[in-house]
Amino acid sequence: MRKHIVAGNWKMNNDLKATKKLIKQIKKSIKKIELNTTRVIVAPTFVNLASAVKRSKKSKLEVAAQNMHQAKHGAYTGEVSAEMLKSVGVKTVILGHSERRAYFGETDELLAEKVNAALANKLEVIFCFGEELEDRKAGNQEAVVESQLNKALFHLDAEAFRHIVLAYEPVWAIGTGETATPDQAQDMHAFIRKTLANKYDADTADGVTILYGGSVKPNNAKEIFGKPDVDGGLIGGASLNPEDFFAIVNAF
Ligand code: 13P
Repeated sequence: MRKHIVAGNWKMNNDLKATKKLIKQIKKSIKKIELNTTRVIVAPTFVNLASAVKRSKKSKLEVAAQNMHQAKHGAYTGEVSAEMLKSVGVKTVILGHSERRAYFGETDELLAEKVNAALANKLEVIFCFGEELEDRKAGNQEAVVESQLNKALFHLDAEAFRHIVLAYEPVWAIGTGETATPDQAQDMHAFIRKTLANKYDADTADGVTILYGGSVKPNNAKEIFGKPDVDGGLIGGASLNPEDFFAIVNAF
C-alpha cells in the first residue's frame, strides 16, 4: 500500500528558536495519535536542519531539506550539496518547488540533474511540479504537467520511483488561499498515475505517493485527502501553525 505523507514546507520562515519550538509542538501532538501508514515531515531552512534532525530523533517526525545543489562539491558559493544534507542526517529533499522555478530560474533540465544527484546519494526526493494559471485557463494543465515529468523524471528507471514522491502543486493555488477543488486534484492525480503507468507499468504507478499542495488548510484537508489518488499534502502557510498542521495530519 502507498504511504501517506503530510509534509510541511516552512519555506524561509522560522529562526532557530522558532524551529525548536515548532518541532517540539509537532512531536508532542503526533505522539497522541496512531499514525498508521502516514509519515509526517517538516522542511526547515538549511541552517536549522541539523538542529531539527537532532530534535526529531526518537520521534516519528521526519526532516527534509527544501533544495540542494546538483554538484558534489566545489566553488558554488552559497550552495549546499546532497552529501552535506546526508551528513546532518537528512534523508529527504524537496526539489522543483515553483518558487525555486520562478525566483531562481530552475528548469526541468536542471531539476533532472538535481534528482540524479539526490538519488545517487540515496536521498528520497519530493518532486514538485504544476501548471500556472494561464495554463489552467487554456486547458493545457495536463500537457504542462506531462512535459515537466517527462523532462525532469522520465529518464529514470522504474526502480528509481521507489525513492520519488510526487507533489502536484498548481502554481495558482500556492499561497493564494485558492485551492484546487478536490475533484480538480483527483483528476490531475489520476492523470499523473495514468501517465506513469503508460511510461512504466501499473505497479510503479500504483506505488508512487502523489501529494497535493496549494492552500491546504484544516477546513479542506479531509475532503482533498479523501480522494483516491491523493496520498497526502505538501503544506506551506498552515504548516507554520502547530494546531493547523496537526489538524491536517489528523485529517487522515
Ligand atoms: P501554501 O500551503 O501556503 O499554499 O503553500 C503550498 C506550498 O507551496 C507547499 O510547498
